[in-house]
Amino acid sequence: MKPNHMSRRDYLKLLGAAAAVSSSAVSIDGEAPTSPATQQNADRLNRMRWWREAGFGMFIHWGLYSVLGRHEWVMENEGAPVAEYALLAKQFNPKPNAAREWAKLARRAGQKYMVMTTKHHEGFCMFDTRTTGFCATKQAAGRDLVKEYVDAARAEGLRVGFYYSLMDWRHPDGARCAEDEAARKRFVEYIHTHIRELMTNYGKIDVLWYDVAWPLDARGWESEKMNEMVFRLQPEIIVNNRNKLPGDFSTPEQRIQAEDGGRAWESCMTMNGSWGYHRSDDDWKTPKTIIRNLISCARDGGNYLLNIGPRPDGSIPGESVRILSAVGQWMDKNGQSIYTTDRCQPRHSDYASFTRKGNRLYAHVYFWPGSTVAIAGLRTRAKSATLLATGRNVEFTQDEFRLRLTGLPEKAPDDPVTTIAVECESEPRQDNIFVRKERKRAQV
Ligand code: GLC
Repeated sequence: MKPNHMSRRDYLKLLGAAAAVSSSAVSIDGEAPTSPATQQNADRLNRMRWWREAGFGMFIHWGLYSVLGRHEWVMENEGAPVAEYALLAKQFNPKPNAAREWAKLARRAGQKYMVMTTKHHEGFCMFDTRTTGFCATKQAAGRDLVKEYVDAARAEGLRVGFYYSLMDWRHPDGARCAEDEAARKRFVEYIHTHIRELMTNYGKIDVLWYDVAWPLDARGWESEKMNEMVFRLQPEIIVNNRNKLPGDFSTPEQRIQAEDGGRAWESCMTMNGSWGYHRSDDDWKTPKTIIRNLISCARDGGNYLLNIGPRPDGSIPGESVRILSAVGQWMDKNGQSIYTTDRCQPRHSDYASFTRKGNRLYAHVYFWPGSTVAIAGLRTRAKSATLLATGRNVEFTQDEFRLRLTGLPEKAPDDPVTTIAVECESEPRQDNIFVRKERKRAQV
């Protein structure tokens, strides 16, 4: 068993211990008091429970850059002067409650939480703040867009996350803070005030998603103090690792990569090549690619945070709606193979990928081979198999080298990925080296 491998049972055991520790503050066996580190781990497991179960979230990049529709880095990448760029705030006036549409789509897609940009690198605050006039309430929009978002997410029963960029291209101290201590102090005060406002004015917030810490390190940002404040104001929140502290989870970007040691991770990804609305970027991923990514995240114990970049009026680009709707249709039938799954060891196939819940292996066939699906090196005995889309039983034969699922339709029964649930006698393990070494060889 790999060191980063935690079974669902182990995880639930830990959760049980976590509950015991947090309620009693003494050790589980009632002897020595628990160490602060144990307490901290227990607290983290409790705070992260819903997130681990959720698996799939919606990221939303929305701000002044949406008006230009040329990627959220347009200000920097086109070298726009601050004063010129600031004029966009006079145009940015989305339709009321646009976020309701996002939240409805997220729920339909099977996403359980949302994370919206409250301030991106451009420095525009989507929330009401006492620190600057450069915020939604004091510009053309004339209202608090973070509040609308929070209300929309809650109305659909989704958890609420705030993205917040520490890097700021507009604030006069945003770059010079690295060399000038007085500037650093002013800037850190500005940023901490935003975070305090966000953590105070919107009720319970579930995720704080920091971004880009340039040009300071954790000391410069006073990140310890920042997180302490956050947890004081929102004791149940979870925070990511982008304020240069480890936080509760890691954030591989545009790639799927598991963390070692059982550490929580979330892969964030765009559907085309841009986070913010980019009107002419047509490099869309297919629903099949998105579903395969979601499967890979679930297989390796991570979450998938999939982005939309709404237009300046708040409407969602049609292609994103189509993709997420297709993902949602698939999740309606196949969600049990994604949510609350365990890390899954089997991974070798050229036409299928795998997830696991306890002893049940889900084979996700993305290039349908026809009437037989074969899995090499499954070293755990299969007891039964079912086609998830239809509930139909699947015949199979198994020897020590191969599981053959037979009598299947010639054409893929589900679209774009067909899932077969294989109930095994114990935790499914695959060993392809065993096959390579031990299969009977013929005489030459
Ligand atoms: C990067 C980009 C940013 C985007 C973020 C999402 O840090 O700078 O534009 O918001 O990734 O993970």
